[in-house]
Amino acid sequence: MAQDAKTWLITGCSSGFGELFVRQLRDAGQNVIATGRNAEERLAHLADTGASILELDVTAPVPQIEAKMSHAWSLYPNGIDVVVNNAGYVLSGAVEELTQDETEHVFKVNFHGPMNITRALLPHLRAKGNGTLCFMSSQAAWHADAGASAYCATKAALEAAVECLSKELAIFAPNLKVLIIEPGYFNTRVFSNINHVPACVPAYAQFNANVRAIEAGIVGNEPGDAAKAVSIMIDLINGTGIASGKVVPLRVPLGSDGWERIRAQGESIVKICDDWEEVAKSTDLKSSQQK
Ligand SMILES: NC(=O)c1ccc[n+]([C@@H]2O[C@H](COP(=O)([O-])OP(=O)(O)OC[C@H]3O[C@@H](n4cnc5c(N)ncnc54)[C@H](OP(=O)(O)O)[C@@H]3O)[C@@H](O)[C@H]2O)c1
Repeated sequence: MAQDAKTWLITGCSSGFGELFVRQLRDAGQNVIATGRNAEERLAHLADTGASILELDVTAPVPQIEAKMSHAWSLYPNGIDVVVNNAGYVLSGAVEELTQDETEHVFKVNFHGPMNITRALLPHLRAKGNGTLCFMSSQAAWHADAGASAYCATKAALEAAVECLSKELAIFAPNLKVLIIEPGYFNTRVFSNINHVPACVPAYAQFNANVRAIEAGIVGNEPGDAAKAVSIMIDLINGTGIASGKVVPLRVPLGSDGWERIRAQGESIVKICDDWEEVAKSTDLKSSQQK
């Protein structure tokens, strides 16, 4: 074990970013609590890393999440230092074909899961006084694609809630760090594992075929290297390597594609604010002419 070993709890470790976190952190001698659903089967390949394996479906009811987090806290002498809320999936389907149940399920995994885990661990982390809460968001929090409303909404909601959380913690636990990662397209299983809503509106048949062709075209052509991204995320959390001597902001985009989309969205918002400044300000009770 490394002398300065921290204890990391990571959700969704069966593949992709989660699995890479477990492997890179164990290689660096860190303590890792690797979590996932059907862990006995889906995390079996991680047993020889020496990580502690914990069964955790992030959609579990709150009392179960609380019990799991209290157990996880007791696994290592100093509790937990870093929580990586990574588990998530993409739900694809046009708004008109999506049902509330389907939307609620993706929110349970991508939004409520991380929030429930955060709520369950915060009393421990506040008492300890330091640590990092990391949330795996997406460029999709900023960039909307037709057919991706449910996924984009989960990540946008996650970022809004986590930004509020960061301001709350600045008051209640200033040494607890909060970090949002916004990846573009990276070479994990995520695009070959997209959940599609069942087709129910005939008018959308061609649209669905086009969306599926676009999604299939991403698989194998993702510009991002997930292993490089995880190594950078570890640096961002530890303040080492590329993050050494830098103040890490709340949100960090990763991947040239995501960076470009987020930047374009930011510029378009600034342009709207500039173009519509007069109209926006004219609705004040006291407009600028009267001030
Ligand atoms: N790769 C990208 O390009 C990209 C871009 C932006 C954001 N992200 C985000 O990165 C995160 C990780 O995704 P990935 O790219 O590494 O894809 P991945 O290889 O598909 O990994 C997703 C992980 O989430 C787990 N998961 C799904 N539902 C779960 C649940 N109910 N409880 C616990 N675990 C659950 C999966 O476990 P199972 O094996 O049990 O399904 C899997 O371990 C996600 O939040 C995703 O939205 C990825």
